[in-house]
Amino acid sequence: MSPSATETLIREAPTKYPIIPLRQQKTDPISTEQPTTHLEIPESKEQNLERHLPIPGPALERLQRAGIDLSNGYPDYPRKLTWLEDALELEPKDREYVDPGSRADPDKKALLGAAKEVRHLAKHIGTEIVGLQLKDLTPQQKDELGLLIAERSVVFFRDQDLSPQQQQELGKWYGDIDISHVNPYVPGVPGAQVIWPDLMRTSKPADFRHPGGNSRWHTDEGHGKYPAGITHVHHDTVPDIGGDTLWASGYSAYEKLSPSFRKVIDGQYAVIKGSVQFLSKSNPTGGPVSIERTHPLVRVHPATGWKSLYVNRSWTSHIVGFDKAESDLILGYLFDVYEKNPDIQVRFQWTPRTSALWDNRTTIHVVSWDYEGEEPRHGTRVISLAEKPYFDAKAPTRREALGLGE
Ligand SMILES: [Fe+2]
Repeated sequence: MSPSATETLIREAPTKYPIIPLRQQKTDPISTEQPTTHLEIPESKEQNLERHLPIPGPALERLQRAGIDLSNGYPDYPRKLTWLEDALELEPKDREYVDPGSRADPDKKALLGAAKEVRHLAKHIGTEIVGLQLKDLTPQQKDELGLLIAERSVVFFRDQDLSPQQQQELGKWYGDIDISHVNPYVPGVPGAQVIWPDLMRTSKPADFRHPGGNSRWHTDEGHGKYPAGITHVHHDTVPDIGGDTLWASGYSAYEKLSPSFRKVIDGQYAVIKGSVQFLSKSNPTGGPVSIERTHPLVRVHPATGWKSLYVNRSWTSHIVGFDKAESDLILGYLFDVYEKNPDIQVRFQWTPRTSALWDNRTTIHVVSWDYEGEEPRHGTRVISLAEKPYFDAKAPTRREALGLGE
């Protein structure tokens, strides 16, 4: 019998660093009398094993430097929920949202003037800032960074000295922090979710033909009432080669469409599904349901005022008001335009201690699993929830606003 993914990971663990036990996800007491519907983390033999996984050395050092209590294991998990209504209860209550980028100096002098270097990595998307520490940004610089992210869609900072707590604090500037009811998090820092493909492999085996680690194009947390605005991932540990992340521009994907086709999708709505299934208290015998929200297919970014395509292959289910065949055809085309044009994408090679901050309103992203889990990759992710998506027919495209031509 072949060893389980967990056993393999244990056997291959380096011995330089202490082994911290993995915590198990806590189960909602109500759910012990109910069938499990939590499909993300299925029950398996592996979950009955005493699970250990070595925290990669640089990650452990970062966590210890930040004073994270690892005495009860790592990472921590939210309580597993049974009921849809309990999951909805965790969403932000109705509130106004002012995008920090919308109040920034359009020239962004405080931010860009303080940087040693500002490198645009591709023509339409992706900028690297050199010589600034995210933890030291002033309120004005944070607003200007919000605008820069809105304009360039993803912004990178290498060589950061950043604790999970500081990362969480910065995320609060850009919106309500997403407190996940699914993803593991740094003990004591519930908004700092743990991105650790080796941990994912303990419940979802992966191989070359079935790659792991977020290797499908997607946006983060699109199914909420207030979907994700900015995601900030900080990687303390990355493979020597491989594990790049790619982003594609939703502004540019929209601009790739003919003006006639834009008229077909402008003002339409699509259903976005969450990844986890629950039971509903209003219909407990009705079978598993996921959180679903209807959002505009084309949305406008509140800081730039530019139109962006808002679809992704992983979570956009169907267009409202269209027959399934029509919806499948249109969405399939939109996914292809978004994913398959290299001139509207940026591919980023990580180095340890790098932060990427991107806008889920105007991008999709995917991770290359070419390292096949042979080297550790570990980081923390903070998601800031932004406005309720909206469409404005009068809003310009990015190319129109910047005078770039058709
Ligand atoms: Fe993601």
